[in-house]
Amino acid sequence: MTNFNNIPDRRKTLSIKWTLYDLDILPMWLADMDFPAPKVILNALHRHVDHGVLGYEIPERAYYEVVSRRMDELYGWKVDPDWIIYTPGVNNGYNIAARVLCSSRKGYVIQTPVYNEFHDAEKKVGIPKRVAPLAMLAKVDRIRYEVDYDALKKAVRGAGMFLLCHPHNPVGKIFSRAELMMMAKICIENKVTIVSDEIHAEILLDGAKFKPLASLSKEIAENTITLISASKACNVPGLSAAFAIVPNAELRKKYFASALGMSYEVSSLGLTASRVAFSGKADPWLKELRRYLTANRDFLVDYVTKYMPGVRTTLPDATFLGWLDFTQTNIHGSPFDFFKEKAKVALSNGKLFGKEGEGYLRINFGTSRAILKEGLVRMRKAMEHA
Ligand SMILES: Cc1ncc(COP(=O)(O)O)c(C=O)c1O
Repeated sequence: MTNFNNIPDRRKTLSIKWTLYDLDILPMWLADMDFPAPKVILNALHRHVDHGVLGYEIPERAYYEVVSRRMDELYGWKVDPDWIIYTPGVNNGYNIAARVLCSSRKGYVIQTPVYNEFHDAEKKVGIPKRVAPLAMLAKVDRIRYEVDYDALKKAVRGAGMFLLCHPHNPVGKIFSRAELMMMAKICIENKVTIVSDEIHAEILLDGAKFKPLASLSKEIAENTITLISASKACNVPGLSAAFAIVPNAELRKKYFASALGMSYEVSSLGLTASRVAFSGKADPWLKELRRYLTANRDFLVDYVTKYMPGVRTTLPDATFLGWLDFTQTNIHGSPFDFFKEKAKVALSNGKLFGKEGEGYLRINFGTSRAILKEGLVRMRKAMEHA
């Protein structure tokens, strides 16, 4: 049994999350968890380091077969190992796709509020961004999001790529089969390739089920680049390794050429960690993690509902991220500044996820219950004195 209550002190490391702000500020922002990676992964990394040579490495066919088997075992998705291309991270993966699919006239579409880095492809790649905001539905103190198909239809017209976040960061939504089918139909009709960022696919809460978009049909697979990584679920994002699954041969050729053009290497330790994760050896740990994260999610939602009047929250299906709406509270101005100054807690500023995120904050509950509680208590007290 893993004791997720027991977490190491990360202030003594170069952790971005734990060192960006002053020591008195409790960080609940950046999307990495505070838990050590699973023992089986750490043991494999120890063996790799003990070998002593840390040279350039690339996956061989047997490696890709491990990834392919995982897609089949988890989702019944038959992935030809030849479709898989390594990439030094998911962000890298969709920026490469954007170079292939978009241009200064042909933009990309995102569903806001969405992961802040999705917005940055505009500057990093030099392509126009189009937004198809999700529709927010509120019921008392709970919020959830649905696809606005009209907005999506309008945004994809003339675009080169639809960058889908599935499961969705920050709203924690797993899109249903019907939603995925409809979004894929709209994109296929408009000849827009979908890049499906599925980095959070294995962080499933409360028994939620996940299906990769490309697994739904051959036609959809041919029109989709899927980006996967073990980094979020096994908490090894610092090792920079991910995979693009590109069933369409022509697109794969272009994608690979573009990737090679960017001095294309991947971390050898990242490859070692991912191999263990995709082989399923970390699954018992993952099961425990999901149970702990589900309990953290429930603790968060209960606490906010009971003690933070006016705050509305999502009930995420996946991810270790909560999304809190402060627009109906007595906090004036930016809730990010308010809590940083008055509660000494740093969450992720909602406006970084798009203008629909103004007045919202994202909270990372991938930490010990004690730290989560400490952050929430600080926030509650600050609200009581607002
Ligand atoms: C949706 C999403 N995609 C990509 C990333 C980053 O992936 P990588 O570190 O592999 O570039 C994150 C990290 O938070 C994320 O939430």
